[in-house]
Parts: sequence; structure tokens; C-alpha cells
Amino acid sequence: MIESRRMRAALAAAATNCVIFDLEGIHMQYDSLLRELPGVEIRFALKSCPVDEVLAALAGKGAGFDAASLNEIQQALRTGVPVERVHFGNTIKSDQQIAAAFRLGIQDFATDSLEDVEAIAEYAAGASVFCRLSTDGDGALWGLSRKFGCSGTDALAILQRAESRGLNAAGISVHVGSQQMKAKGWQRALSGMAETVRSLRAKGIILDYINLGGGLPALGYTDRSGRSLVPPLNDIFAAIRAGMQEIKRASGKDLHFIIEPGRYLVADQGAIKAQVIRMTTRQLPNGERQYWLYISCGKFSGLYETDALQFRLVFPSHAAATEYVPAMIAGPTCDSDDVFPHDNGLIYVPRDLASGDPVWILSCGAYSISYMTKGFNGFEPLLITTVHYQESSWRASMRYPMRQLLPESETRCLNGGLER
Ligand SMILES: Cc1ncc(COP(=O)(O)O)c(C=O)c1O
Repeated sequence: MIESRRMRAALAAAATNCVIFDLEGIHMQYDSLLRELPGVEIRFALKSCPVDEVLAALAGKGAGFDAASLNEIQQALRTGVPVERVHFGNTIKSDQQIAAAFRLGIQDFATDSLEDVEAIAEYAAGASVFCRLSTDGDGALWGLSRKFGCSGTDALAILQRAESRGLNAAGISVHVGSQQMKAKGWQRALSGMAETVRSLRAKGIILDYINLGGGLPALGYTDRSGRSLVPPLNDIFAAIRAGMQEIKRASGKDLHFIIEPGRYLVADQGAIKAQVIRMTTRQLPNGERQYWLYISCGKFSGLYETDALQFRLVFPSHAAATEYVPAMIAGPTCDSDDVFPHDNGLIYVPRDLASGDPVWILSCGAYSISYMTKGFNGFEPLLITTVHYQESSWRASMRYPMRQLLPESETRCLNGGLER
């Protein structure tokens, strides 16, 4: 069972549909990452969970932030984290965005092109840059292989240009692909980094730091056929540690390492409380009947990542069900795209589900908030609930997601807190 007792209790106690984050669980993930990669600085990829309470919890542990836009930079800074611990990690940014970020105090910019470096030199004079190397993304659910990153040869030209334009050529970065399931994905990427470090050194470019990027996997997903996606976490961490050693040897000096996890820190620490809208059957052209289960939360409530995986569903009021049927599962909107795709067969659900029955959707703490629409078809975004430890019991507070849209959004305690 990936979800904690706290999460189960919060899901059971929630009186309305909402997305719940277990802040204690996030603390524990942060600590486990530090144990696996001692000395590595963690900069949370804010895009994976732009929820103030989650960011504050991570900042409180000492995390910095990888921000992809001005709004994300501002949200990161609102946690009170020192600006040196926030970098602009998006290689795609306009002149104005670079200038505005620099005015906010950002000194550290990702890049992967000569044009971007020129713009940084112009609008953020004297800043530091780190060059993102491309990866093949093999082994990851989302490969990220085409849009970002450059070759080692280009990196040399980019960092040389940076230095000649008065910037600090400070580092290189990669992203091995999100939900990277293979240790080999890390091995290849980090060996490539070591090679680049060596050739940069030969040309007199001595880096200060290495950014290992994101890609660490969540544990609680299933694939689109419903099989558990169990990543070889121990092998992955061993590959990262070995790769870091290789990079250090290539550098010939002490290096500072940064990692930008998103999914790993939050995915399994978030879950949605939803409900059954309707269970029905419809006749197919071949005469067979097909079950359809419509639930209150679908792609437009943030579950976009069903493009590549399935979230585990729990039907707590049918825990003792004996009869299960294969069903298509779909969200509540009047849109035909709002269906959870699947491979090789349907998802088995209790046959007697009825409108109003609760549905728990597990391990959806990463990216769901970012993908949630503001009210597609008039369906409101989910309320956000955070569960945290306070005065020797577990407390849960709930609020609307977009504070700026709903300034009077309430923050209230659920059921006076949960027993520890
Ligand atoms: C630059 C960068 N860093 C880190 C991440 C976080 O990735 P993940 O959630 O796979 O750890 C992303 C996600 O797309 C990213 O674009």
C-alpha cells in the first residue's frame, strides 16, 4: 500500500470532493531523498505541484525551487526561500521574462541555445547559466527528448559564448525523462555529462555545479493495462551515485550537485476524493454490452496523465464487493476526450456502484493541480486539502485552488483534525 494511514483517514473524513496532500509524507520523501543522495541540493520542480502549503513544507525542510516562469519564481519567493535557491529552469523565455526574473534577483538561468545566451547576457548581465544537454528519454513514461537540450558540442559553443559575453558558465543539466523507470536511463545521461565535463575542461571551462534534473519515479502507478509500475529505485539511486562519481573524476575538482525532483516528492503523497456519477451499460455494435463508469473527476480535473498510465482507484464503500465487471472509466464533462484510455482490456470495478459512492484516486499528487482546468464545462476545480501534523494530532485544512480568483476562499479545519 503506497498511501499512508493518514491519507486513508483524510480521504475517509473528507466530506466533499477534493484533492488531498499529505505534508508529512512529503517531508518523509524529502528526507529519504537526502539519505539516498547525501550532499545533493534539492530544488523542487514547482510545476509538479504549485500548491503554497506544499512549497512552504519543502522550503521549511531546506529545499530550493526550479521555476519555469515568472509566476513560478514569484510563488517560490513567497515561501521566503532565499533567492539564491531559486533558478529559472526553463530554456524557453522571452527577453522580457529574463529581465523581469533578473529584477526579482534570479541569478541562475537554464539555457540550451546561443540565442538564449545572448538574451541572458543582454538582460541579466553577469548572471550564471547552466546548459541543458539533450537525452534520449528511453525508459521514461514521458521522454522529454525533443523540445529541450543540446548536444555536448553545442554545449561547448554555448558556454564559451556565455563566458565571452560576461556570463558565468556555471553548470550543465539533464532531464532523463519523467517517471524514468530504468537505472540505465540515468547511467547513459550521467556518463554523457561526464564526457561533456571532460571536453569542457579541456577547453578551459571549469564548471561549479551539475544539475541532475528531474525524472525520479513515483511508486504507486499502474500502466495502461493495469499492471503495477514498480521502478527499481535502489538501482536508480545506485546509478545516480555512480554517475556522480564519474562526473567528479571527469571534473578533477569538487563539484556541487543539484537535483530537481517533482514527481518523486509529491505524486504518492496526493490523492483525490471523488464520487461515482453513474454506472451504466451500453450496447456495442457487435451486440455485446459494455459497462461505463462515469466519475466526478476526469482529465479536465487534472488527470491528464492517464495518457500514459492509470491511477489506482479505490471504492471504499464496496470494499467487500464480490462481483467485479470490466468497465470504461470516464470523467463527468460533456466531452468525448474525457475518458481514461487503457490498453488490453478494461478496468475492473465493483458491479453495484451507484451514484454518490465515493471513489479514491491514488498517487495523483504530481501535475494534477497544474493540469486542472479552471472550470471546463462549468465543472469547478477541486478544493485543495492539506493534511499536516499540529498540536499532537493530524489536522486538515481545505481551500479553493485559485486564491487570486476567489480571494475570500475559506480555509477551514476538517472534522477538527484527524487522529494520529
Ligand atoms: C526542467 C525540469 N526539471 C525538473 C522537472 C521535474 O520532473 P519530474 O517530475 O519528472 O521529477 C521537470 C518536469 O518536466 C522539468 O521540466
